[in-house]
Amino acid sequence: MLDKISSLRITIDADLAGINSRDGVESFRLTHLVRKGTLQALVDALRDVPKEEKPLVGKALNDLRKHTDAEFERLSEQYASVADVKSIDVTLPPRGPLPGSIHPITQTLERIVDIFRSMGFSVAEGPDVEDDAHNFGKLNFAVDHPARDMQDTFFVDSKERNDLLLRTHTSSVQVRLMQSTKPPIRSIMPGRVYRNEAVSARALAEFHQVEGLYIDKGVSMADLKGTILAFAQAFYAADAELRFRTSYFPFTEPSAEVDMRCFLCKGAGCRVCKHTGWLEILGCGMVHPKVLENCGIDPEVYSGFAFGFGVERVLMMLTGIDDIRKLYDNDLRVLRQF
Ligand code: PHE
Repeated sequence: MLDKISSLRITIDADLAGINSRDGVESFRLTHLVRKGTLQALVDALRDVPKEEKPLVGKALNDLRKHTDAEFERLSEQYASVADVKSIDVTLPPRGPLPGSIHPITQTLERIVDIFRSMGFSVAEGPDVEDDAHNFGKLNFAVDHPARDMQDTFFVDSKERNDLLLRTHTSSVQVRLMQSTKPPIRSIMPGRVYRNEAVSARALAEFHQVEGLYIDKGVSMADLKGTILAFAQAFYAADAELRFRTSYFPFTEPSAEVDMRCFLCKGAGCRVCKHTGWLEILGCGMVHPKVLENCGIDPEVYSGFAFGFGVERVLMMLTGIDDIRKLYDNDLRVLRQF
């Protein structure tokens, strides 16, 4: 056994002397140091050595193991650093700093807010977790209105109350504002909203809205049209052209959906406007007298308009991004374009 150990030492020393590369270090390891390697084979053979020889043989084996490990360490370090130096290509351009930037949705929100601020609108905020009254009831949603259905609304489990939900639109903030403020009111409500929808290229369960509310004496549909047009011209295109289609919302009467002539094809028809020449940009209407009354404002004295739209949709129209999920993937190749 002692002979075997000395002969392995000779082999190992010869192999060590022959190493001249990183690959050489690795093949040495595979021959001698792994579990099926030469050293372990001798350790296994120790079992059959007579008891009285064991201390001597064990010590010799141990010495060889220590010697081999130390030499192996030394050579691995030596060749690791050689390889590292080789892998640095000094002709490559430097990487430079990678600055962060504001997320495209926040950028869009900020632009929208700036435009309405310049028209004299203030910004109002409210809670994401709302109660049924602020999200639906006071907005004149009938008790059996389908939008209250499980399909659209995330309800909140709570021991104390059974009317909590995640707001489905920021109209809830309009209610809070009307309840707490004496007209004139001129505010927008940007914020996150939640709908229990299957996630797809067109829909997410969580997105952003901007709604607006203007209440004063003698506010008319003409004010609504003028405000929306001024916004469209500032935000989309200086020559923006709108059309109002009648629509229905429980909280406005009359209600309208607003289309803008497609800013890409100027109405000729293209992929973005699905060859209609028009893009739907928002919903709006004159605040329903019942809603005013529900919120403590006298509809005989005051009137007002409201509007609302989704921010992700706006951004998709402007950029041609065709899948809403791309806005939330945080893929740097997308984000760096903003
Ligand atoms: N709250 C409506 C929605 O979420 C948008 C809207 C607001 C429509 C104000 C008309 C007036 O779809």
